[in-house]
Amino acid sequence: MNTSSYQEHIATLQARYAKAMQHFNLDAIVLASGQKTYYFQDDHTAPFHAYSGAQQWLPFTLNTDTYLIIQAGQKPRIVWPIRDDFWHAPNPVPAGEWQDEWDISPARVDDKWFSGLPQKCAWLGPQPQSFAQTIEGLNAYVDFSKAVKTPFEINAMRLATERAVKGHLAAKEAFLAGMSELEIHLAFLQASQQTAAQEPYPGIVGVNEHAAVLHYEHKDINRSARPLTLLIDAGANEHGYASDITRTFVRHDDEFSALVNSLDTMEQHLASSAMSGVDYRSIHQEALVGIAHILHDHKICRLSVDEQMAKAIPQVFFPHGIGHLLGLQVHDVGGFQIDELGTTRKDENSPFLRLTRTLKKDMVITIEPGLYFVPMLLEKMQADIPQHGCDLELIERFKPYGGIRIEDNIVVKDDLPINLTRNAFGQ
Ligand code: GLY
Ligand code: MN
Ligand code: MN
Repeated sequence: MNTSSYQEHIATLQARYAKAMQHFNLDAIVLASGQKTYYFQDDHTAPFHAYSGAQQWLPFTLNTDTYLIIQAGQKPRIVWPIRDDFWHAPNPVPAGEWQDEWDISPARVDDKWFSGLPQKCAWLGPQPQSFAQTIEGLNAYVDFSKAVKTPFEINAMRLATERAVKGHLAAKEAFLAGMSELEIHLAFLQASQQTAAQEPYPGIVGVNEHAAVLHYEHKDINRSARPLTLLIDAGANEHGYASDITRTFVRHDDEFSALVNSLDTMEQHLASSAMSGVDYRSIHQEALVGIAHILHDHKICRLSVDEQMAKAIPQVFFPHGIGHLLGLQVHDVGGFQIDELGTTRKDENSPFLRLTRTLKKDMVITIEPGLYFVPMLLEKMQADIPQHGCDLELIERFKPYGGIRIEDNIVVKDDLPINLTRNAFGQ
């Protein structure tokens, strides 16, 4: 851990929270990591992900039942759970210089650690307790600023990217060796040094037609007799911060690989346009136009770009949004929020676009155009769009390849953005 960057990170968070406390007339905010949640009628729990607002303050993965107390002008305090439990591994306070920034109060589950808290104290996180108030609007207020990352956070995401990229390279080799989706996923996990439960989201590993399922959730145990395409959308996690990366690998130099190359060029162009002051919605619009060009150039659709746009043809092949905020949550909080007060803005023409804000320096976002041959959407196009201009024979030839998505993680700057993903791939 870089101590000075962590100190700066804590100072930034303290300033943000002091402003929130002033706005809501509060003397303290308690952030709770959360508690274990049990499966229905079971004594096993779901994998635990700490509340991101609490995780943001600490340079290690936060466990359950941990509370942070933030007060203006005071060192933050962490209430650390002491477990009298011989069933599970012990939970010692992690060593390290981070401790210098905190008052650390170990507490057993029945300890009244909250008894000295000020009256005007708010709760953020799951399972609110009666000693603190749930303040309407506070969550949105602190979420808004999370979009702009500190250098400490950007560094965590760079490390998360580097680990994930090692996984992607191993996955590519496994695919080229003819392995199954399960084997490819295991190769990814091993090279990125994580268990499946530690992934920031369940890795998507789709061979052939499965590449056309946007959030394909299975891992086929059988090897394909004729593997053509691998779409892998998988990331890694560095003390809670995510990377979210997609690559589409092919085995043959053919008309589909030409399509992959065109989408790759378009993706890099869009990624390089992510500068402060740009309305993210305009990048999504540009992506739709770019898809229309590709469809035309590759003779998938003979309509002009303007005609395609008027008939919403690009959306048949690229049905999702161009990306989202990235951070402690893969689809990070505040993507629709245009101010601290919680005013939201949706793009009615693009219902699946998860980010409608104007970009600011040090926001971290994804750029992830796709081009898929989804049988359901193609059937709907034939039923609903007269004179769609698409070459159905060519589309039939493309269907066994499934589709393409290429996704990079980008740090917005005032001029040329930083492409964390391409930097880690070395290209
Ligand atoms: N991995 C989910 C997404 O790209 O949004
Ligand atoms: Mn994404
Ligand atoms: Mn993704």
